[in-house]
Amino acid sequence: MESSELAIEIRDLYKLYGPKPEAALGHIRSRSMRPEDSGHFVALNNVNLAIEPGKICVIMGLSGSGKSTLLRCINRLIDPTGGQIFIQGHEITHASTKELRRIRSSKISMVFQHFALLPHMTVLDNVAFGLRIAGISRKERRDRAAHALELVGLSGWNDRKPSNLSGGMRQRVGLARALVMDTPVLLMDEPFSALDPLIREEMQQELLRLQNTLNKTIVFVTHDPNEAATLGNRIAILLKGEVVQYGRPLDIVISPANDYVRDFVRGINVFNVLSAGQIVDPARPPVVLTGTSVTSLPISRSTAGPVAVTDGTGRILGVVEKTASLGASAADWQSALSQDYIRIAPDQLVAPFLEELSRNGRPLVVVRDDDSLVGVVTGSSVLKALAANSGVKSKCEEARQQPESKSAMAAEQRAG
Ligand SMILES: Nc1ncnc2c1ncn2[C@@H]1O[C@H](COP(=O)(O)OP(=O)(O)O)[C@@H](O)[C@H]1O
Ligand SMILES: [Mg+2]
Repeated sequence: MESSELAIEIRDLYKLYGPKPEAALGHIRSRSMRPEDSGHFVALNNVNLAIEPGKICVIMGLSGSGKSTLLRCINRLIDPTGGQIFIQGHEITHASTKELRRIRSSKISMVFQHFALLPHMTVLDNVAFGLRIAGISRKERRDRAAHALELVGLSGWNDRKPSNLSGGMRQRVGLARALVMDTPVLLMDEPFSALDPLIREEMQQELLRLQNTLNKTIVFVTHDPNEAATLGNRIAILLKGEVVQYGRPLDIVISPANDYVRDFVRGINVFNVLSAGQIVDPARPPVVLTGTSVTSLPISRSTAGPVAVTDGTGRILGVVEKTASLGASAADWQSALSQDYIRIAPDQLVAPFLEELSRNGRPLVVVRDDDSLVGVVTGSSVLKALAANSGVKSKCEEARQQPESKSAMAAEQRAG
């Protein structure tokens, strides 16, 4: 993706605390000094991140790893010591105070862990407050605030005071206060960490529901691996100010970059991260059917089970269950086409469909919104992903990697 198409791009970002941060950074960059010898606290160390529009990027790490610092650099509540940040292609790192004010009110809003609602104001006025600062008329800000409260399920509470609300409801107000600004970018710093576990999960689902229609670019900080896995399209893992891994949840769970990441993702329920598009079965490519011909037959038609059939442009036509008896006749394939399959989007989790998959063998067919086919998820492709996650190596793979154990196995077999 081109830089200008990214919602947020962070390049070589550093934040140093200490007496002479700029000078120390010069030494660190020229490699004449290691960060730990600089006499400064390096809160962010050469952070690079590219965040696509409409995605949720989760920043995860232990307490003190630099998560809040990174988030606050994005709207410059904290000034970085070095590096660059671009919001929709506009550099924010050197923006003037005036530009900064404009960018903040039009592009970025923020939700904090502690809701910081103004106690003497009504819920509606709390939500409308940012619009008042931005100079929006009274009528418009009341309409927009009421709409934002409706979005988070709090219509009817407009005229109450924050003290009448539960913790979960206050955080909904916090969310409404950010949504009302109608910015493409939303920064959220451990917004649900102070909530009870059940309310917290409810808020996570609420956020995903909203995101479905709002399509914001969200940077979400958490130290909870399962929250990260539930929400993140991408997860960045911070350790002592450094991004040690940045990737899709499943990739991080299956191949953690180091022991720190491994420890972190150990607690993740893998069913929270198995999305359909990532585990399509490579052994089951589609059959392409044009008006008069079958242009690519299954590699091995003896393998039982369904294949997906597309037209010449890669759009789904249906599935064929029993391929073994079919020749290369387009008419035969056409008449064998069935619509009895489960359609699933690439980023949808497969967990809710596994029972159906195992019981009836109805194929899970992964299709994008425009009907273009990604592939088919089979029991075997699910099992492969689970095996990779558990760290289990297949016996065959082990034998390939250790020739001596191969002969040991052979000896054992002879003995048996
Ligand atoms: N003004 C400051 N002076 C010195 N160190 C600071 C300052 N602000 C933050 N830090 C340090 O930077 C580190 C990262 O802080 P923070 O980004 O808040 O971590 P996190 O949000 O991951 O818990 C912490 O170790 C913190 O002590
Ligand atoms: Mg923090």
